[in-house]
Amino acid sequence: MTPLRIGLPKGRLFDHAAALFERAGIPLEGVSPKARKLVQTTTLEGIGDVEVLTLRASDVGAYVEHGVCAVGVLGSDVLKEQRPNVLAPLDLGFGRCRMCLAAEPGVDALALETPRVATKYPRIAADFFLQRGSPAEIIPLSGAIEVAPLVGLADAIVDIVETGETLRQNGLVVHAEVFEISARLIVNRAAMHLSMQRVRTLQSKLGAAIGRA
Ligand code: PRP
Repeated sequence: MTPLRIGLPKGRLFDHAAALFERAGIPLEGVSPKARKLVQTTTLEGIGDVEVLTLRASDVGAYVEHGVCAVGVLGSDVLKEQRPNVLAPLDLGFGRCRMCLAAEPGVDALALETPRVATKYPRIAADFFLQRGSPAEIIPLSGAIEVAPLVGLADAIVDIVETGETLRQNGLVVHAEVFEISARLIVNRAAMHLSMQRVRTLQSKLGAAIGRA
């Protein structure tokens, strides 16, 4: 049988994902997000051989949608932004944070006619303003979003808030919560049928470990 291929995000979600696999009784023995070898093979109890691909979080959806990986782990922020054509059967419960609209305390972006909004999540930000009947000018950036309002590039930002420390350090406050974020198990649509047994086993072991058997 060909190994089940799993796409895991490098960054902050990897350690949480590895800890959950361990709690589920299927530790990812020998798999490291820092390894130079990007396809790492291990064996999971009850599932068999797996190949773990350590990927950029923003690439996991594409690998799973195109069937290169049968399953993956992805934050719901990226899932909502990219909307890959995959199944997302399980909220994994880690990586919790919030997608927020933030700005300087006196700036109510929702009251401006066409607010300029800097973000790494242009689709989410555009939808948020459209749903409130006020289109925004979206300024897509790739990082250090909090600096944009401080230097006059934007009136507000739509970004992830985890501890709130980056906002505090830059004198910004949350004006609205867009949605809560957590990591999801995502599954390729065909793999749900072709590798049903192994995918179901993985899903139920992870679900049991987070109390959602
Ligand atoms: C994320 C996010 C915020 C920060 C929030 O950035 O874009 O800047 O974390 O975390 P906090 O509420 O705990 O301060 P990231 O660390 O991914 O870096 P980036 O700016 O390079 O995207």
